[in-house]
Amino acid sequence: MINFNERETLKVNEKGHLEIGGADCIELVKKFGTPLYVFDEKHIRDMMSVYRDTIIEEYEGNGLVLYASKAFSCTAMYAIAHEEGIGIDVVSGGELYTALKAGFPADKIYMHGNNKLPYELSEALDAGISCIVVDAYSEADRIEEEAKRRGIVQNVLIRINPGVEAHTHAYVQTATPDSKFGFSVASGAAEEITKYVLSKGHLNLRGYHCHIGSQIFEKESFVLAVKKNMNFIAEMKKKLGFICEELNMGGGFGIWYTDEDARIPVSGYRAYLHALIETVKGECAAHGLKRPFILLEPGRSIIGEAGITLYTVGAVKEIPGLRKYVAVDGGMFDNPRFALYESKYTALLANRASEAPVELVSLAGKCCESGDLLGVNMNLPKAEIGDIVAVLSTGAYNFSMASNYNRNLIPPAVLVKGGKAEYIVRPQTYEDLIRNDVMPDYLK
Ligand SMILES: Cc1ncc(COP(=O)(O)O)c(C=O)c1O
Repeated sequence: MINFNERETLKVNEKGHLEIGGADCIELVKKFGTPLYVFDEKHIRDMMSVYRDTIIEEYEGNGLVLYASKAFSCTAMYAIAHEEGIGIDVVSGGELYTALKAGFPADKIYMHGNNKLPYELSEALDAGISCIVVDAYSEADRIEEEAKRRGIVQNVLIRINPGVEAHTHAYVQTATPDSKFGFSVASGAAEEITKYVLSKGHLNLRGYHCHIGSQIFEKESFVLAVKKNMNFIAEMKKKLGFICEELNMGGGFGIWYTDEDARIPVSGYRAYLHALIETVKGECAAHGLKRPFILLEPGRSIIGEAGITLYTVGAVKEIPGLRKYVAVDGGMFDNPRFALYESKYTALLANRASEAPVELVSLAGKCCESGDLLGVNMNLPKAEIGDIVAVLSTGAYNFSMASNYNRNLIPPAVLVKGGKAEYIVRPQTYEDLIRNDVMPDYLK
């Protein structure tokens, strides 16, 4: 039986149905159909506020939490982030456009990416975003050029790679020496780019950014990264006289997907922040440095456990002695993470949520691809055609990684508040699929 978390995002009601944010999942399915992404607004706000308030209480408010858009981006999400008084990061023109359309203030937007396209940089400067994180020499040149043309000075950070190996899935590590992201501190590359950016008249180097990976539970990895960053900051002050005003420590805090993961209560995230903040304070004191404005970029930990995906079982196939496939009406087009990383999830039958699991099954999608699975060896009660499967903790990197593979429609998303659900992303239609198709005259 699933031990739901203290946030009460999920529970089982007297009908034996799964509830999210006080809404009965079976009623949601009647109203909105499946597949369906469902998000609990309270959970999102609780998580945003724990980051925001910890910075206020433990670091005199000298910092900002940036919600990492890549985890889940839509206009409603940006409206919530704005109401909660936090900032956002964006990694593409599309995320920036969505945020601006939602009325998100440009002065709380940071832009990252290892290859920001010229038009994306130009859009960022036109919007007047707070800061751009430089991740290539060519980018520094382009921002300089664009800023010069506009007669402005653009705030920038440099993405550095402190060389911390976080204990997580190899595919989502980003700060090992071999990474497409950042400039290595150990090799001297970070120092060289610092000199280069400082030589530019239209770039205002505010400090550094790093992100050591995702789904990390060990506080020590974050603490070590901060120590290495602060060492580097001290070195740059000594060697170049550069005073670092801002330190962005990235995202990466882990969440619960299965019982192999720790189940961190909202308050548990305070402990991570506390450790990071204490390290920054301690290192500043040790090196005689001014305390920098700190930034954090949590994505998964804000939205991951706030979301679930509901599916309908359409076929059950048993291969004697091998495995049982339970096929649902979604798959890798709404959640490619198993196909990409063999990510593990927990599933249950939302219409019989109090029933104990009795068998291990592979949860198959409907795509024409053998690897189109949502999980293997998932513990479920005996699933029948028409049952509603809920896959938990799908709020992050599911909708945002969805595709129209096989010309399947990307499912809609609803937001639940006080037991009531509303669309935040409407269903796609077949018309949407062919909207940009063009028939050359000679084929008509
Ligand atoms: C630069 C950067 N910041 C923040 C994040 C968010 O990480 P998470 O969703 O694990 O908190 C990522 C994720 O890949 C990232 O690459």
